[in-house]
This record gives sequence, structure tokens and C-alpha cells, in this order.
Amino acid sequence: MTQFLLEAHKVQKSYVSSIYRNNVHAIREVSFGLQNGERLGIVGESGSGKTTLCKLLVRLEKPTSGKIFYDNIDITDLPEKKLDFLRKNVQIIFQNSMNAMNPKHTIGAIIEEPMQIQTKLSASDRYKKNQKLLQDVGLQQEIYERYPHELSGGQRQRVAIARALSLEPKILICDEPVTSLDVSMKAQILNLLLDLQQNYNLSMIFVSHDLDVVTAMSTKIAVMHSGTICEIISSYEIFSKAQHPYTKLLIATLMEFKQTTITNCLEKQKVKEYSTIKGCTFYNYCSIHQEQCKMVKPELREIAPDHWCACHLL
Ligand SMILES: Nc1ncnc2c1ncn2[C@@H]1O[C@H](COP(=O)(O)OP(=O)(O)OP(=O)(O)O)[C@@H](O)[C@H]1O
Ligand code: SF4
Ligand SMILES: [Mg+2]
Repeated sequence: MTQFLLEAHKVQKSYVSSIYRNNVHAIREVSFGLQNGERLGIVGESGSGKTTLCKLLVRLEKPTSGKIFYDNIDITDLPEKKLDFLRKNVQIIFQNSMNAMNPKHTIGAIIEEPMQIQTKLSASDRYKKNQKLLQDVGLQQEIYERYPHELSGGQRQRVAIARALSLEPKILICDEPVTSLDVSMKAQILNLLLDLQQNYNLSMIFVSHDLDVVTAMSTKIAVMHSGTICEIISSYEIFSKAQHPYTKLLIATLMEFKQTTITNCLEKQKVKEYSTIKGCTFYNYCSIHQEQCKMVKPELREIAPDHWCACHLL
């Protein structure tokens, strides 16, 4: 049986919509596993539930139902005071790292804060580690005394990465880490993340709208649509062997319009409509749908070795 470091089992997350006063099912019965040392990409259009899933995995949010396991420990309902091991071992960085930084703290203090809270390292050991982290993420030592507003977007993202690595986590989750950066900076940060993944022996979840970026950063890709995972496939095979009608549509659209971002690939389903779907979330767009697809949710099934698909016809 495959051993997973992080595992989601039939996880759901619903919110009450302030507009429609009904339940928005942000995540619907999502199941998958991340193996030790693996790089899993998550790709999907805006609103498909990528960030919500990441927040559930690090227990910034609690699932409405389902289970999440870290290293075979059920973390779904653990109280905050029992989550120290998770806070140390699973770190997350977001698109806007500035939001997570106290503007009144120096970069040195920002990077050191997790070590101060979670470890017994002395001030001089924390300082030494801080200097090493700055070097590892490609920042000058003089940054230590500066403040977040004095840094460029790329430098701030490097600081966020250094802070995330300060506790030597086993898993790094990157939610759109380069979306707000310019093209040259994007490439630098992506290369840095790949180097760090090797050097720090990290398992990684990498989230993006950009299929090219996800393919470059991951060994396996989970495609999300309307809160579900509709396909999981090796990144080497996604362009040649994808089977799910949504993944195929994404690829066809990207090829046709020579764009890599999938934000506007599909017309948005209205939240009200989206919240009432019982069967396949792709039903309204699927050219091969059948009657059962409307009412019965397709389960994610292994259709070939390490290739999973949620479609009644596959
Ligand atoms: N706190 C919340 N309250 C109500 N609805 C929410 C909340 N957080 C997320 N949602 C809804 O859940 C769905 C998924 O949102 P999420 O932010 O996870 O999508 P995403 O795939 O990360 O999108 P993007 O690519 O734009 O970042 C959306 O319909 C969103 O409006
Ligand atoms: S389950 Fe049905 S509607 Fe959904 S992708 Fe497959 S054929 Fe299309
Ligand atoms: Mg998001």
C-alpha cells in the first residue's frame, strides 16, 4: 500500500454565501495523497478551490467533513495547542507574502519569529541560522536589518521562503507564489524553489493557474474543477495522455489561444447554480455527458497506473 506523508480523504468544505444565503461547496469530497519527496502540482481556474484546499491541508481552515492525515496522524479535529508538529513540518507560502509580514518588524525578526516560537534555539544560533537561510534563498546579508516595504516583490517572496524553511519543514505548499511577479523574477523564484526542494529534501505542493508552470514544477498534477479533483496524472504525460473532458478542454484551449493561464477558459458558473450540482461538476460544459452524470458524482478512479480520473465514461 502506498504510504502518504499528507493525505486527504473525502474532504469537503462549505461556506455560507453572504449573497445567496446558501451553502457554497468550495471543496467536494476531495481525496489524494502526497508521497515523501514528491512534487504535486494543483491546477485549476479561479474559484475552483485551490487555496481552500491548501488552507485545509495546513489546518488554517477545518473541513466540514472528511479526514486529513499528516504522517498517518489524523489532524482533522486536533485542537490548535496539539498542532505544533504540523506547524513545524508543513509550511505554506502565498501569492502576497507582504500580507503575512508585520511591516514594523525587520526582515531578520520576521524570519526568526517561527524559530523563537517553536524552538529552543539561542539568540546567537537563531542569528546564524537566519544568515544561512538568507544565503540559501539568494538574499544579501544586509537585508536582515531592512523592513518589508523596502524590498521588491521578488525579495519579499524570497524572505517568505526563508521564513517557511526556518523550521526545516518536510512539506512546503506554494499557493501561486509567482503570480504577482514579472517574468524574469518568476523564473528566478521557480528555479530557487526547485533547488531548495532538492537541498532541503522537501515534499512540495505547487498551486498555479499556469499549466506550463505547474508542469515544470511538478512530477504529478491534480486538475481541479468546481471544488473537485477531476484528474491526477504524471506531468510528463498530461499533454499526451490526459483523459478527462475538462483536462482535454483546458489543453485544447491553451494550445488554440497560445496562452498558459486558464483563468478565463470557461465561463463562470454562477455560485447559486454551482452550489446545487449533485453529479459531475463539469456536466454543463461536457459535450459527451449522459443522463447519469447530472445526478451521480463520478468517483476518482485509477484508470491506468498512477493515472486517476473522475468520469463515468472512463
Ligand atoms: N471564507 C469564504 N467564505 C465564503 N466563500 C468562500 C470563502 N473562501 C472561499 N470561498 C469560495 O470558495 C470557492 C473556492 O475559492 P478558492 O479561493 O479556494 O479558489 P481558488 O481556486 O484558490 O481561486 P483563485 O485561483 O482565484 O485563487 C470560491 O467560490 C470562493 O468564493
Ligand atoms: S462524468 Fe459525465 S459530465 Fe462528467 S466529465 Fe464524464 S462524461 Fe462529462
Ligand atoms: Mg487561490
